[in-house]
Amino acid sequence: MLEKQLLFILFILQTTCSPSARKLSERTLRKLDSLSVNTSAPWEPLRVTFEYVNDPNTQTRTFLDSIFSIAGVYFQKHLLIRRSSSSLTVTETIMSEFQGFIDLPSDMLSKTYDTDLVLIKCYQVFYVSTMNNDSDNTLASCAPIDLDSSTGRPVFAGILWNMAYSDPTTLTNVGFEAQLATAVHEMLHGLGFVSDLFSKFYDSVDGTVYTNSSSTDANSVILLQTPRVVAQAQKHFACSDITGVPMENEGGSGTAGSHWERALFYNEMMTGSDMVSSFAITDFTLQLLQDSGQYIQQLQILSIGLLHS
Ligand SMILES: *[C@@H]1O[C@H](CO)[C@@H](O)[C@H](O)[C@H]1NC(C)=O
Ligand SMILES: *[C@@H]1O[C@H](CO)[C@@H](O)[C@H](O)[C@H]1NC(C)=O
Ligand SMILES: *[C@@H]1O[C@H](CO)[C@@H](O)[C@H](O)[C@H]1NC(C)=O
Repeated sequence: MLEKQLLFILFILQTTCSPSARKLSERTLRKLDSLSVNTSAPWEPLRVTFEYVNDPNTQTRTFLDSIFSIAGVYFQKHLLIRRSSSSLTVTETIMSEFQGFIDLPSDMLSKTYDTDLVLIKCYQVFYVSTMNNDSDNTLASCAPIDLDSSTGRPVFAGILWNMAYSDPTTLTNVGFEAQLATAVHEMLHGLGFVSDLFSKFYDSVDGTVYTNSSSTDANSVILLQTPRVVAQAQKHFACSDITGVPMENEGGSGTAGSHWERALFYNEMMTGSDMVSSFAITDFTLQLLQDSGQYIQQLQILSIGLLHS
């Protein structure tokens, strides 16, 4: 009996709560369409900054700070990026792009993030806002909002966190780990793991956009077909016939397409609904980031000696 109840609870958690991505705005997509990729900037370690835009209570703020600083360090240690400018400035257009998702306070307008300062370098800003709604089954959601004009890399992203599922006063260690996994998951969306961007993925060496980076099969399942992801699938499943990797087809617009298929990738961090534990970031996700053209893994580039090019 007890076991049945437990299974029931797990089932509810898995099917009702989801960390999700948001669709990109029309303007962001247009910007991407007119992008002419410049691959001449050197690779350097990613630097991220978090801004908490509404004013959560101290306990909530401490909780958010701790999960995002850990998640931030993870990406800063692993990913190299290219950047084109020496500062990021919040413009009117960027403010308006955030509207309807996260409302940036007006004092953010014209705020500039210096990318060259020694101490507080920042190559990507995540605006974090909270809500508290237990009738909304979204744990958290994230979207890239503004893209770097010469690489298409997201430089401003928004994260909306539903505190209804993260009460810091009752958080266990296991619960903390699950929340941290959600933070990493949302940041991956903010870094560009969003189906809208797949068609713009390009070769980081020469900037050539991949043709047919994804396709849709007879059952409307999106298959990602970029080279590293396909190679990884062929290796992992020991099957050289694989030509595309299925993305999630359920869960609505914030979930479908922007996550690995749960039935195939069970506990991979970038599957689309909440899990209780044992998340894994696999090479599938890391290869997808590399296939975007905008990131390389630090260890890899060190091992082939390109860091100082
Ligand atoms: C590409 O980027 C490099 C360095 O960031 C810059 O010097 C160069 O002018 C850019 N080329 C074009 C065509 O914009
Ligand atoms: C809470 O979420 C539900 C479901 O998404 C939505 O209908 C409702 O308007 C939300 N409540 C508030 C106060 O935003
Ligand atoms: C890309 O897809 C189109 C239409 O499905 C097809 O005609 C073309 O051969 C494909 N190109 C490559 C390089 O696979």
